[in-house]
Amino acid sequence: MSDPLSAWHRLAGGCVLLDGFHALKHAVRFGAEVPVAVTADRAAALALADELAPDVRETLDALLTEVPETAYASLVPRPHPTAVAALAVRPSREAGLRTLERRPRGAPVVVLDNPRNLGNAGAVIRLAAGFGATGVVTTGTLDPWHPTVVRGGAGLHFATVVERLAVDELPAGPLFALDPEGDDIRGVKLPDDAVLAFGSERSGLSAELRARTDHLVALPMRPQVSSYNLATSVAMTLYHWSAAGF
Ligand SMILES: C[S@@+](CC[C@H](N)C(=O)[O-])C[C@H]1O[C@@H](n2cnc3c(N)ncnc32)[C@H](O)[C@@H]1O
Repeated sequence: MSDPLSAWHRLAGGCVLLDGFHALKHAVRFGAEVPVAVTADRAAALALADELAPDVRETLDALLTEVPETAYASLVPRPHPTAVAALAVRPSREAGLRTLERRPRGAPVVVLDNPRNLGNAGAVIRLAAGFGATGVVTTGTLDPWHPTVVRGGAGLHFATVVERLAVDELPAGPLFALDPEGDDIRGVKLPDDAVLAFGSERSGLSAELRARTDHLVALPMRPQVSSYNLATSVAMTLYHWSAAGF
């Protein structure tokens, strides 16, 4: 194999940083193309694979090259306890948009309307992956592939579709927007082809998103509590959708 550090520097600008063993493990499991993967401790990384990810152990064994600790540390913003880092090819936007538009849709699309917090966006992508949602779409300026979002998503961007779109480009399907003023979700069945929209941490749902909304839905909340955190709202809503399917 060519020098992994030269490969890293050549590819870093156009690839997605997978920071830590778990991000690499998830990305590999869900089919990411990983042109370079390094570790400061190959034996420890493979021991983790034996323990936590035997299904991808062989792939990780073939991918991981050991580099000196200082070289590893120079590649990442903050060294990860597992001392593993890799670069993955970002999936094509065209393929992502085709998946979002495909009907019939077997699981909802989650829309974050102008989210502001990178950690929340990552947590939502992890939730969407866990529940098998069709994808996560963000509106506004936040980049859902920002390294901090990828870190928060634990490499699970590769297990669902993640794209940024304008409100007037959102995928077709009945739009259920989550807002404390809506109808109690406990009386609402969320269909598999739903588009589930959540407002910004600061200002809630935008006027544009509200104008496109078919149903306004509320999560149960005791009086005097203003709102839930964005990612926990997505978690409750996806759980509600999934619970109706059993
Ligand atoms: C932190 S909240 C936004 C709070 C914001 N200050 C506001 O004015 O709406 C982020 C998003 O989570 C969802 N959310 C939070 N609590 C909710 C609840 N009780 N019912 C429905 N959605 C909720 C909504 O989509 C909301 O826009």
